[in-house]
Amino acid sequence: MPSNTAVKSNFYPRGGRPGLTAPTVSRSMARMPLTYAQYLKLDELLKLQEARSQPAEHDELLFIVIHQVYELWFKLLLHELDKTGRDFENGDLYGAIHTLKRSRTIMKTLVGQLDILETMTPMSFTSFRDRLETSSGFQSSQFRELEYKLGFKRADMLRFCDKESGAYAAAERRLNEPSIIDQFYKFLAARGAAVPASLAERPVANPAEPSEELQEEILRLYQTKPELAMLFELMTDFDEGLQEWRYRHVKIVERTIGNKQGTGGSLGVEFLKKSLFRPVFADLWAIRHRL
Ligand code: HEM
Repeated sequence: MPSNTAVKSNFYPRGGRPGLTAPTVSRSMARMPLTYAQYLKLDELLKLQEARSQPAEHDELLFIVIHQVYELWFKLLLHELDKTGRDFENGDLYGAIHTLKRSRTIMKTLVGQLDILETMTPMSFTSFRDRLETSSGFQSSQFRELEYKLGFKRADMLRFCDKESGAYAAAERRLNEPSIIDQFYKFLAARGAAVPASLAERPVANPAEPSEELQEEILRLYQTKPELAMLFELMTDFDEGLQEWRYRHVKIVERTIGNKQGTGGSLGVEFLKKSLFRPVFADLWAIRHRL
């Protein structure tokens, strides 16, 4: 990891990287070069995986690491989706394509990572499951933020989130903010689509609903504007990725705890199945047979 103090580089001509001027640091102000561990706050990060089982069950570390890693990916996904939303509002097609590509790739990584957790057997999970007490992914405020950003506004799910968690207020805020679907409507309108007033002016805290009128408009753009078709395909990829995650998650739940109730208190598999094939961009799916 390069420090921002004098770094000798073999890659740039004498004088350093073009456009990057080395800060002039007087001897008295000199400090130790920034290290990898300092920049990434590794000492703090690597202390955050505390098993609750005593003595620690071998697989509990895997369980903690994987959930923490997911929360980090959720953080990045929210960051990227916020950017895509702004791109939509600014009519920036190529910006939206760029960030959606990244979000789609993160989504694929989220799905792939479940392979690692699937190496944990039901017996192994049972050996520490009671240590989770009532904690559950159900209470992930960032996951709720993601759903709200994507227009899946299940307001009642907020009551399961941890009010003490920093992300709770953000989830509450996002529930009452326009979702990426509302931002997409603006983008479409700027590209000449007739967005029905019922969509453009709808209460943003309501779940996004498909619209046949809008589907006709999207179909026309799909068939006449290849650059928009590219965007719509990427949005469909992302959407499919989220549905794949839901499917893989419900299967890992089923193979690990069968029909037991979740630690969060839901019916477990039965509850999760309800949102299995729910699309984010329903209008894009509704027209595929006509493309
Ligand atoms: C052995 C592994 C896992 C089991 C047995 C499991 C179990 C469950 C169950 C039973 C639920 C339903 C809510 C409840 O009553 O608790 C749930 C929800 C959830 N889990 Fe997992 N889970 C596992 C792994 C993961 C992983 C790796 C993540 C990644 C963050 C995750 C995130 C979530 C989320 C976000 C929900 C809420 C889903 C929704 O509201 O639609 N779970 N999990």
